[in-house]
Amino acid sequence: MPFLGPKTKIIARFRCAICYGSDADESTIARDSSDVLTSNLADAANFMLRSIAGEEVMSRTALVTGGTRGIGLAISAGLKAAGYAVAANYSGNDDAAKSCEATTGAKCYKFDVSDFDSVGAGLAQIEADLGPVDIAVNNAGITWDAPFHKMSQAQWQKVIAVDLDSAFNVTRQIWEGMRDRGFGRVINISSINGQKGQFGQVNYSAAKAGLIGFTKALAQEGAKKGITVNAICPGYIDTEMVRAVPENVLESIISTIPVGRLGKAEEIASMCVYLASEDAAFITGATMTVNGAQYIAG
Ligand code: CAA
Repeated sequence: MPFLGPKTKIIARFRCAICYGSDADESTIARDSSDVLTSNLADAANFMLRSIAGEEVMSRTALVTGGTRGIGLAISAGLKAAGYAVAANYSGNDDAAKSCEATTGAKCYKFDVSDFDSVGAGLAQIEADLGPVDIAVNNAGITWDAPFHKMSQAQWQKVIAVDLDSAFNVTRQIWEGMRDRGFGRVINISSINGQKGQFGQVNYSAAKAGLIGFTKALAQEGAKKGITVNAICPGYIDTEMVRAVPENVLESIISTIPVGRLGKAEEIASMCVYLASEDAAFITGATMTVNGAQYIAG
């Protein structure tokens, strides 16, 4: 269960009762989530109950780039469970997108976040379907590791384009709308390796450190317009990306994590749901470290 305020928890229980009967709890939605119609009903009920409870009258729309797999999937699920309309972007894996729609109720959109015009077309479709984006989670990222002496220009450019340019391509095209509406949340998923550097990841570490600078500068510009901009730096999380690290290398990395294990994607999602909430309005320009004490940034 992601981070939810007490009022939201009561509402979530009401929502489950309406859609599944009074015995249901929140986990029922996760178990029975292939029923997207039920999920839409849940949206409507949630919207109504939030209005009655005097919370935001307007339902908010969240975009999660790379939102159908790994950490992004957990974020899409967490935001959907918290009552947002969620657009989960992806670039290639249609099967993962179908499964994401079935398990989370988020709507999936295929476009290339490294291409400005492709992002523009994707955002237009999301706005037509779900309304303008109020919460952007710039999560899409790839690795293409090699020691620097073996790193090609293609390896550098591709990782910078997908992991860093994407944040510009998305945020620039929703920024004016957020300013006009006086509300926005931009959450950039950076990395422990953007904070400390990592052997074999000059490209990735540069892109992820770039996201932290992007966050700090943009936070100052959004502050007077009700827009917060924050970065989350996950440590090593149990995802496909981390499992692709050679076994012996991964073992030695895990041995440096004081908590003694990889993180869970849901542990990043709950931070993200919190930063998206009204409660987090005074947190902006921050770098939230979620890494099991593997690297304690000052
Ligand atoms: N520190 C110091 N030296 C290292 C090292 C390290 N961490 N890793 C490798 N080396 C050394 C090797 O011992 C070797 O030394 P010798 O030549 O003296 O034997 C030399 O570097 C070259 O090593 P390889 O021949 O293994 O080089 P390679 O080209 O096969 O691959 C690599 C190197 C791709 C970087 C591989 O070590 C690797 O995959 N490392 C993991 C990188 C990593 O942590 N990626 C994180 C992915 S997950 C992620 O990024 C998510 C997130 O946000 C946390």
